[in-house]
Amino acid sequence: MNIGIDKIGFYTSPFFVDLSELANARGVDPNKYLIGIGQKKQAVIPPSQDVVTMAANAADSMLSKEDKKKIDLIIFGTETGVDNSKSAAIYIQSLLGISNNARAFEIKQACYGGTAGVQMAIDHIRSHPDSKVLVLAADIARYGLKTPGEVTQGGGAISMLISKDPRILAINTSSTFFSKNIMDFWRPIQKKEAIVDGHYSTDIYIDFFLKTWSRYQKLYGQNLNNFKAIIFHLPFSKMGKKALNALFAKESGQYDLEIKRNFDFSKIYSSLVGNLYTGSLYLSLVSLLANSNSLKKGDQIGLFSYGSGAQGEFYTGKIQSSVPNLQLKNNVESLLNSRTKLSVPNYEKIYRDGIRADSENIDYDISSDHSKYVLSGRKQNQLKYLKQK
Ligand code: HMG
Repeated sequence: MNIGIDKIGFYTSPFFVDLSELANARGVDPNKYLIGIGQKKQAVIPPSQDVVTMAANAADSMLSKEDKKKIDLIIFGTETGVDNSKSAAIYIQSLLGISNNARAFEIKQACYGGTAGVQMAIDHIRSHPDSKVLVLAADIARYGLKTPGEVTQGGGAISMLISKDPRILAINTSSTFFSKNIMDFWRPIQKKEAIVDGHYSTDIYIDFFLKTWSRYQKLYGQNLNNFKAIIFHLPFSKMGKKALNALFAKESGQYDLEIKRNFDFSKIYSSLVGNLYTGSLYLSLVSLLANSNSLKKGDQIGLFSYGSGAQGEFYTGKIQSSVPNLQLKNNVESLLNSRTKLSVPNYEKIYRDGIRADSENIDYDISSDHSKYVLSGRKQNQLKYLKQK
């Protein structure tokens, strides 16, 4: 039985900051951000959006009434949870009207949470072939104003419907993973901004990629010739390029050029949004499917997931739809093109508002956020979500 991603959706904040303007404000050569890091724009998340609203906005138009009845498992991967106890998945279930005959919970291992959800969902469908699973991967990446990590911030959400006979990507059962207790990036419980050993984290990422890739080759007898594309978790788009270069320094195959070209297609949207943590690998998938001019139904692709702390996984799948997927492209690009550019001072104000100590009762200004789902505030410590249209 083929199992995998049947539908995929994406959402990000209606606001962004231009990274050339941020570079000028920080006294840095813009080419460091645009070329050295590979990022052009960065999503700025207002207080009226959190991981619940972004995930609800990503999943809303993707799900039919029939899907909502058949979903019996909702898995929310995030490292930007909205409550220490209650999962974001339960909020999604009620906001979207998904059946109550479902399991709903949240999982965490830094940026790996989305992939953990996908793999768990596949196992669930294997034993319950007629059900469907909703996997959500949403985060807000914050490092701090004027820090080296600032250029790699961002945020947004990916939603995926996992089912049998998938129409996007059939996921193979073969997969390799590696985990180890490493302090490359973490966020202590009392902090909203991550602590990161930036250069160390990029080295560990590459090391875990090469380890999981070579174990995959050994266990499943495959090499680069079996792949038309390899896509990555992209904390910033240059990271995937560094990992790919490390792979090509060790070996080559008949599709090297195509793999490089497809990597360029896979990084387009990340370079306009920034790091979504759990959702980043899947935004690379969206970008590849929406933009590649060479992939065909049945082609095999590799996916590398990395979550600091650290967990890596390399797995593979076969394309099930025709590519480029113009409907997906249109949906994502109309969202990205409708965003409002913020000046650097306005971005800094929204950033500071986002990390302010939260009070028990607060109303957020939702007048400039026209997203379907917004967070209007908090009353007696209860989050108030609103459906606007
Ligand atoms: P930095 O020290 O400011 O940057 O921090 P740099 O000095 O290393 O320069 C970056 C690149 O720009 C270099 O290229 C420079 O040569 C180039 P590279 O050697 O890397 O190829 N450069 C220029 N290029 C063109 N024109 C110029 C110019 N000047 C310099 N004028 C760093 C960079 C990524 C370390 C920092 O932004 C950071 O700490 N980011 C956060 C950490 C991160 O994203 N790590 C990635 C791996 S860990 C991961 O993926 C997990 C994560 O998503 C979290 C999770 O799992 O939850 C982060």
